Amino acid sequence: MLATTTQPPDIAHPEEQTLLQRALHLAGPLASGAYVDDWAAKAQALAALADLGTYAVREDAHWSPAARAPHEGLSVRPTRPGPASSSSDGRLSLNVDFAELEGPALQLVSDATAGLDSAEKIVVSAAAWCLCELACPPELALDTMNLIYEEALHLEAIGRLLGTDHSQVPWIPDDRQPNWDLVRQCETPLDYMIVEHCLYEGRGTVASAAGAFQLEQAGAPAEVVEVFATIARQEANHNVTGFRWLKMLDTGGQQMQYRLAELIRRFLAVEPLPEPDGTPRSQRKHFPLYLLHLYRRTGDFYRVKEEIVSASRAARRTGLPGVPIDRLYTGAQTTSRWAETTARS
Ligand SMILES: [Fe+2]
Ligand SMILES: [Fe+2]
Repeated sequence: MLATTTQPPDIAHPEEQTLLQRALHLAGPLASGAYVDDWAAKAQALAALADLGTYAVREDAHWSPAARAPHEGLSVRPTRPGPASSSSDGRLSLNVDFAELEGPALQLVSDATAGLDSAEKIVVSAAAWCLCELACPPELALDTMNLIYEEALHLEAIGRLLGTDHSQVPWIPDDRQPNWDLVRQCETPLDYMIVEHCLYEGRGTVASAAGAFQLEQAGAPAEVVEVFATIARQEANHNVTGFRWLKMLDTGGQQMQYRLAELIRRFLAVEPLPEPDGTPRSQRKHFPLYLLHLYRRTGDFYRVKEEIVSASRAARRTGLPGVPIDRLYTGAQTTSRWAETTARS
């Protein structure tokens, strides 16, 4: 599939716009990688639009095989009233009661989560970029709209806990730039799912659950731990989403192998594997390569999904993914070596 650079359409008459046009109008500014004043309202409107999209494509029987269906599958008009623009007055919120932190709790959580908000920002922009710039199958487009919403929920929760003014800090800081560059080098929705959701979110599965564990160990308030545990469950689901799309779009041929190897090489060039020394950081960084090894060896999405869910739960309890260490390192290094040696001839 080719990139389809899009211009946000005029949204003066939203009832005349297709779902796709409305989604592109909302996501376009987020896809720029820069701060957008009404990012939360846009994310919320995209989630509502995704719900409308699910109804509309079913009613119009637009679903078709994911690997072949074009982006234009969402070129229908919603049959129900929906968000007219990004000026929704609703407020984003995880289903956890909490208040802005103060004093020692603020210091503790601020130290433990330094830089995490920029991780949430980049995934909001990455999903928006995929939606706007790549020819997404309709189901994948709906997934990205919901992903934007969930990542925006995370950003809102972390920002509200810490009292962050997002307009005063870079949306994508320098140390996240290589990640943003990797996303923008994606040529297909499958590239994006592999880079962002199989690889980066694979680390996020363990890191987010371990973060909730560490906050609990450090004596953070229970509601704060619950915020991060909720985020961790959603991050694991984002990782599962990556492997679900990999399985659906995997053609199984030689070109697919070359492409997968190339994407892994690009990822490892900016995110090299650390020494296999058993530390939490080392285990976390090997985990997505281990998942890809499992996928390559078995082709079994459900087996990989089980491994993701089990690692998320283990990291929440112990801070570690819970994969036997020999299996983790052997699998990850096998896939890393395979990627290094598998190049187009
Ligand atoms: Fe997130
Ligand atoms: Fe995520």
